[in-house]
Amino acid sequence: MSIKTLSIYTFRNLTEVHLTLSPFFNLIAGENGAGKSSILEAVYFLSHGRSFRGHVLEPLIQFNQQKTILHALIETATQNEISLGVMKSLVEESQIKIGGELCRSAAELATLLPVQLLNADSFDLLNGGPVCRRQWIDWGLFHVEHSYGDLWRQYNRVLKQRNAALKKGGGAVVRCWDEELAQMGEKMALQRAYYIDQIMPLCNNIFGRFCDFSFYFQYERGWDAKIPLVEALQCGLARDQHLGYTSTGPHRADLRLTIEDKPVQTILSRGQQKWLIYSLKLAQGLLLKQQTGKICIYLLDDVPAEWDDQRQKTLIAVLQDMASQVLITGIDLSYLQELTADLPTKMFHVEHGVVTDECVEELL
Ligand SMILES: Nc1ncnc2c1ncn2[C@@H]1O[C@H](COP(=O)(O)OP(=O)(O)OP(=O)(O)O)[C@@H](O)[C@H]1O
Ligand SMILES: [Mg+2]
Repeated sequence: MSIKTLSIYTFRNLTEVHLTLSPFFNLIAGENGAGKSSILEAVYFLSHGRSFRGHVLEPLIQFNQQKTILHALIETATQNEISLGVMKSLVEESQIKIGGELCRSAAELATLLPVQLLNADSFDLLNGGPVCRRQWIDWGLFHVEHSYGDLWRQYNRVLKQRNAALKKGGGAVVRCWDEELAQMGEKMALQRAYYIDQIMPLCNNIFGRFCDFSFYFQYERGWDAKIPLVEALQCGLARDQHLGYTSTGPHRADLRLTIEDKPVQTILSRGQQKWLIYSLKLAQGLLLKQQTGKICIYLLDDVPAEWDDQRQKTLIAVLQDMASQVLITGIDLSYLQELTADLPTKMFHVEHGVVTDECVEELL
């Protein structure tokens, strides 16, 4: 799975950009504000149908324009070519097209184009709230477990109904959702536990390439481990009525990462925490590849400047082993350029929204 060509129109400061990417390493250099992250944002948008910099459409569309168009030609694991297009407009209905056919759901984009982003916000995976860790688990399950996306959507639909009933205060109406919610919740919790068991050794293998620590996951499924969910919902009814929302279930799950029984944040340095976050995300790509043959695309926005040479080497080696397509941005990527010199690497330079392909430049 890789992007062969990428076209971006009127997206932030990128007026019209056409890139032919390497299926392996793509290094995108440029000064602050040049448009590097916007290229990654465009790829992320093609995969998720939304940005990683907020949910509002307007700031993405170039000033004084009414719409943006993104297009990619992707090569699948079976060497088929598929065209993906997204048009987002402030004045007309937005469109998603896959293989030239209109498609209604952005989830289809995500299925075709698994993308992992690593940027400064990825720190939230360790230091942010539980929602970040649930999203991490759910991303993995969505891609490896065919039925999980539907289960997740249905669970959240029923949860909304139960919460609406709680706000109205009717105990009997609330209870009539319990059985269905509990059945789906138990299934989600089991699938998450299974995923965590599978990914733990892969995460530790990768983390072990960066340092000598091993860590553990403690999975908290979102309700008392000793009782079934239906019972937890019934016991918690009075509290939920008081709160006005459902306070038990897999939507409250969390994952604690520990070393020697202590939270990893209290043991690892900032740099080491970044290796851990990278290990968690890289392991997901590895598991995806092992279980489905699909290859995940990695977007690395500003590879941590403070990483030492050895860790940058390790990062490149792990990505190389996974045969992933990688887009890396940075102000100075000369060291990474040296490291990837013998690999199929393309170097791009961005200046005021204009992207130059340095290989083509050298030929001219
Ligand atoms: N809607 C828009 N229309 C035009 N330009 C925009 C719009 N939104 C943002 N910009 C500008 O587009 C540029 C793109 O910023 P981007 O975040 O991609 O830069 P960058 O190269 O990643 O910089 P840094 O190294 O600081 O992270 C910025 O100069 C920004 O001010
Ligand atoms: Mg940037």
